[in-house]
Amino acid sequence: MKKQLNDQVALEAAASHSYLAMASWAELAGYQGTASYFYAQSAEERDHMLRIVNYMNTIGAGAVIPKIDKPAAASFKSVEDLIETALKNEQAVTKAIHKMAQTAQKGGDYATFDFLSWFVKEQVHEEAQFEDILQKFDTIGRDGVAVNEIDKILGARNGGGGTGTAAPAAPDAA
Ligand SMILES: [Fe+2]
Ligand SMILES: [Fe+2]
Repeated sequence: MKKQLNDQVALEAAASHSYLAMASWAELAGYQGTASYFYAQSAEERDHMLRIVNYMNTIGAGAVIPKIDKPAAASFKSVEDLIETALKNEQAVTKAIHKMAQTAQKGGDYATFDFLSWFVKEQVHEEAQFEDILQKFDTIGRDGVAVNEIDKILGARNGGGGTGTAAPAAPDAA
């Protein structure tokens, strides 16, 4: 259980790092809405990591702060590509959370099982969110005007909390 929790600390840290790379890529590419959205996502993932660190230390399991690999920012191609990559990432995180919940339940570790239920719900929300954005490329389009529109939608979404960055404020138009 302890190893799985520590692996999850590393997964959340890697997700935070990866979303930071996406935010930076989007900012450089001129997609301010997408940039502020991913800066906020990055902060959220850091919050997830801290939640697990705090829980582990509270139960005396000793959280280990991991080394983080460099994300593949250079290979991003488009805003749609970022969202697809993010969705795949979230699906992998969901699997890991479910595995942990299984381990906790089998081992009679009901405190950890209960702790993980927040993450189970959060993953449903995260996957739905990225699936919803991906769908917009089918409904709105993939040309310059459409992607600009989607960029604005993303910018308007980041009010969800956990921003905490110096990212440019999203336009309030929407
Ligand atoms: Fe997360
Ligand atoms: Fe996430």
